[in-house]
Amino acid sequence: MKKLFLLPLAAIIGLLFFQGTQKSELSSNPELEVAGKKIPKKVMAVVDQKCYGCHNPDARSEKAKSKLDWDALQTLSKSEQSEAKDKIYEVLSEGNMPPRKFLENKPEGKLSEDELALLMKWSKTKRK
Ligand code: HEC
Repeated sequence: MKKLFLLPLAAIIGLLFFQGTQKSELSSNPELEVAGKKIPKKVMAVVDQKCYGCHNPDARSEKAKSKLDWDALQTLSKSEQSEAKDKIYEVLSEGNMPPRKFLENKPEGKLSEDELALLMKWSKTKRK
């Protein structure tokens, strides 16, 4: 009897686990525009690998997603989008993202030189 009772429980836990591991991605939204321009696919791919895990609407860190939520970028005004881009450029040029603490445990999360250059080129605004 007891084992039968555990079955639905196991199913629920399994389902939760499945949902938790199902990774949504920025590149699943190829129409996403920031400051009037689509985010290039190459940029999206890097963001998905190196940034999106912490900066998406379901991210665990409230701080990270409140500061930057890639999916929500398109809901911002154009000037807010430019500001967001500037912030991204800033943290990248200072070498602050992904966070150093995080990289200590997960060095593979670091941006390669090419990836960093790509993201910086994208986030750099003409004003600078
Ligand atoms: C391991 C989680 C994690 C990853 C990966 C990560 N971030 Fe962050 N990010 C954070 C956290 C946490 C904060 C909030 C830091 C704070 O305010 O102290 C943050 C803040 C930011 C901010 C706002 C900075 C500010 O001062 O307003 C930007 C922009 C940003 N991240 C960009 C990126 C980019 C670009 C990437 C990918 C290259 C990235 N992040 C990867 C966790 C992450």
